[in-house]
Amino acid sequence: MMHADLKKILITQEEIARRCQELGDTITNDYKGQKPLIVGLLKGSVPFMAELIKHIDLDIEIDFMDVSSYEGTESVGDVRINKDLSNSAQGDDILLVEDIVDTGRTLRRVIDFLYQKGAKSVRVVSLLDKPERRVVDINADYVGFVVPNEFVVGFGLDYNQRYRNLPYVGVLKEECY
Ligand code: IMP
Repeated sequence: MMHADLKKILITQEEIARRCQELGDTITNDYKGQKPLIVGLLKGSVPFMAELIKHIDLDIEIDFMDVSSYEGTESVGDVRINKDLSNSAQGDDILLVEDIVDTGRTLRRVIDFLYQKGAKSVRVVSLLDKPERRVVDINADYVGFVVPNEFVVGFGLDYNQRYRNLPYVGVLKEECY
């Protein structure tokens, strides 16, 4: 059953599960012999990260960062680090987990920050990619799904902190924002 505030479902629960399995397999292969630190960006990456790491067959550790850059449906230029990593990133191979790459500002800022902290490598896996909105020339290394230029919610993505718990990704009705 679709939530009454949505006008359509873009990506079903089954499609997400299948794609996480594929991404996990690819990441497992690409990082063979390494012990990557998987870093989720709070809060949007939580459901995706939980699903994805089940399929990463490596000796990993996980951590989280909280950065803010977004209010309502419009991105603001600045990105603030609200919560840093728990440990030093010195020498770490970091796989950053994002919910969506939109303008690309968040990614640019966080990747630069992690290299400044001494990370050896930083790659990005994002559940969604909205390339039409890109302002900064940057892309995720691994993408779950490309989405059109519409405001999406669910599977971690919110509108004013709501809808993160929906098990699928969908588009909100205009009257809901
Ligand atoms: P960027 O810095 O513009 O790439 O924005 C990235 C962040 O904006 C994401 O991590 C999301 O939290 C938020 N965001 C961008 N597009 C959407 C959307 O369609 N729905 C919900 N959140 C979004």
